[in-house]
Amino acid sequence: MQELTSLRSPLKLANGVEIPGLGYGTYKSSNEEVTQAVLDALATGYRHIDTAAYYGNQKGIGEALQQTDLSREDIFITSKVWNTDRGYDQTMAAFEKTIAELGVDYLDLYLIHWPANRKQFGDQARKINADTWRALEDLYQAGRVRAIGVSNFMPNHLLELMADSRIKPMIDQIEYHPGWPQEATRRFCQRHGILVEAWRPLGTKVALENPLIQEIADKYQHSPAQVCLRWSIQQGLLPLPKSVKPERMKANADIFDFALTEDEMDVISSIRIVSAKNQIPDQVDF
Ligand SMILES: NC(=O)c1ccc[n+]([C@@H]2O[C@H](COP(=O)([O-])OP(=O)(O)OC[C@H]3O[C@@H](n4cnc5c(N)ncnc54)[C@H](OP(=O)(O)O)[C@@H]3O)[C@@H](O)[C@H]2O)c1
Repeated sequence: MQELTSLRSPLKLANGVEIPGLGYGTYKSSNEEVTQAVLDALATGYRHIDTAAYYGNQKGIGEALQQTDLSREDIFITSKVWNTDRGYDQTMAAFEKTIAELGVDYLDLYLIHWPANRKQFGDQARKINADTWRALEDLYQAGRVRAIGVSNFMPNHLLELMADSRIKPMIDQIEYHPGWPQEATRRFCQRHGILVEAWRPLGTKVALENPLIQEIADKYQHSPAQVCLRWSIQQGLLPLPKSVKPERMKANADIFDFALTEDEMDVISSIRIVSAKNQIPDQVDF
């Protein structure tokens, strides 16, 4: 199992492409606030920016890419095709819009944001996912993206997609944090050489205030947020913490000078905090 060892140390994807260190999340950062936030994240040392068409902030991120002294190849950029753009032609058009908004001529990683599920699409769900994926495969083979993957896919969606496709997803980006570890999906992905990225890696406020996590944080003189991220990387995940505050960006990257014991890992993994915010991909209505 690969494990991150520093903010910028890369993990290797199945196609050999290196994906650098911790990702920097941008969900809920508006166009106005995201430019400065991304510049601050780059100044802190982050080199991996996660966005999506759905976040509505790709232009603001593009502005930061214009303003930074770093070159395009120094920054790993991920975006995602939103649910209303599923299907081959729509995905191709959505990709062009995304790279135009970002002001780049290629993406490092392009993901299907959510699987079409049976609850909404019945027997058509499988075909819709396969058609969307075929667009990503063609973009990859044309050199427009360096890697392709999915997000919020569970083992059942992945099995169907892998059976229907030429190229296996290189990434699955899923909700994964103390209180809501999607362990079956993690195990499935790791068995199949698919790197797992963890979204919402800090969990909810309830996770950060959990007394067991607090106790472990006190022992290592780190914060609960840092313990959540440590727990994530020790499982071979690539977390994507988001903060618009430079001191938190720095703290979220300051997690490489301590290690949780196996017992502590199990204690944290056994915490269950289920809330209305947890989204089960097979049950969502969007
Ligand atoms: N694929 C998907 O479906 C999907 C869904 C959701 C998210 N994502 C991606 O994953 C990224 C991370 O998820 P997320 O943004 O939902 O959640 P998160 O990174 O786990 O948490 C972000 C929240 O925690 C706060 N925070 C950050 N650092 C902190 C710290 N050290 N101590 C206490 N609070 C802290 C932030 O506030 P401040 O900004 O005010 O510091 C923000 O309110 C997203 O930004 C996005 O890129 C993907």
